[in-house]
Amino acid sequence: MLVPAFSVAQIRRITHILYETAHTLRKAIQGDLVNKNEVDVLSWLNRSALESFGRGGLGYSFDALNSETNEFANAIQLFGPAFTDTAVFAPLVEHLNLGAAGFGSRIMGYIPIHAVKQLRYAVNSLRSHSVKVYNEKKAMITAKSGSMGNQPMNEDISDGILSKLIQANTKAKVEDRLEDDEIIAQMSTFIFAATDTTSAMMSRILHLLSEHPEVQERLRAEITDARGGQDIPYDQLVQLPYLDAVCKETLRMYPPVPIWFKQARRDVVVPLAFPIRDVNKKEQQQILIPKGTMVFIGIQASNRYKEVWGDDADEWNPDRWLSPLPTSVIDAHIPGLYSHLMSFFGGAKSCIGFKFAETEMKVILSVLLEKFRFSRSSKEIYWNLSFVTFPTVGKTNPKSQLPLVVKALAEN
Ligand code: HEM
Repeated sequence: MLVPAFSVAQIRRITHILYETAHTLRKAIQGDLVNKNEVDVLSWLNRSALESFGRGGLGYSFDALNSETNEFANAIQLFGPAFTDTAVFAPLVEHLNLGAAGFGSRIMGYIPIHAVKQLRYAVNSLRSHSVKVYNEKKAMITAKSGSMGNQPMNEDISDGILSKLIQANTKAKVEDRLEDDEIIAQMSTFIFAATDTTSAMMSRILHLLSEHPEVQERLRAEITDARGGQDIPYDQLVQLPYLDAVCKETLRMYPPVPIWFKQARRDVVVPLAFPIRDVNKKEQQQILIPKGTMVFIGIQASNRYKEVWGDDADEWNPDRWLSPLPTSVIDAHIPGLYSHLMSFFGGAKSCIGFKFAETEMKVILSVLLEKFRFSRSSKEIYWNLSFVTFPTVGKTNPKSQLPLVVKALAEN
């Protein structure tokens, strides 16, 4: 039901909204540069990802970029560190159904561990915002008029995924209808899945560009040339070769979700592209995965597998995408949704928002790089493993952030 809301046609239709958000972001960063030259890029990108998905996907503005700070965006940013620090409680969290505003959540409230409290706060914040957006949108659809958050609504954003869900649900037979709580839970999933991943990805790209100034200059030249002072239309934007290469190479080397997991719903025999030796040193061409087994899938490991990608698989080299990929990549038949990569996963349950994310990243880069130069700060940045990777200053710092030195290049 939601797939059409993420089609290329729909993404093309909402590209101007992504540009509006990118320009608001540009102005916000410019404002942040008064009296300082170092900016926490992660915080801004997190807020712009929230706003892009809010406006482009839900038809709702979270007003995430218009004030000094945004409490909701801050709460979402807590997920990464809180997940990592509570990993040991993961099975408990799942069984207590922390996401629901019920018994489980109250029990978690009694656990006197900072990271658990942060996780609970983030979950509650996500839920309460989802409830608010849902109620406003439902009332608006019922009344066939209303407002988009704090701003007037216009027609092309009124048919976001939430409207589609609500309208389809209203029309469904009573016995098929989703409970309000179910739709709200779906929204929470979407908001989290769209925000944390995309901001991690964007941050990683800017971090890499700050470490590879020659790549940054080359990319800026391509973008400035294509822009000619105006926003680049969707069809031209998605085809800019070097921009595409930088995005793909970053998604390959540094997928925001480096490991994912699935549970086998039945016994299954998996054939192996590359045989392995078992504990008895016997070569195995396939493995049996019994029903119920939790399987950890090495997304990043697949993206960097030397047998497939070549000896330089561990190097970040956007140029690899500018000539035909090695036959070993084509022949591997990686089941990934996107460019032989597992970054958005594959199969029926792959990431529904990959086109949205790709377009959003390109829009933001095209707007920011023309106006700013990004360089390393003197602080040591460390990328942490979690469901979604996140940067911190130093290894033990609990706060996710990415300080970069930002220089305005022209009149903004
Ligand atoms: C660079 C950005 C992104 C990355 C790397 C990413 C990656 C992923 C991955 C690996 C999955 C797991 C798929 C599976 O369980 O088989 C996933 C699921 C999902 N993604 Fe994305 N995603 C990104 C951006 C987005 C955006 C922008 C949206 C929405 C507009 C989105 C919506 C979703 C949803 C709804 C799911 C399903 C979650 C579930 O039911 O478990 N994602 N994504």
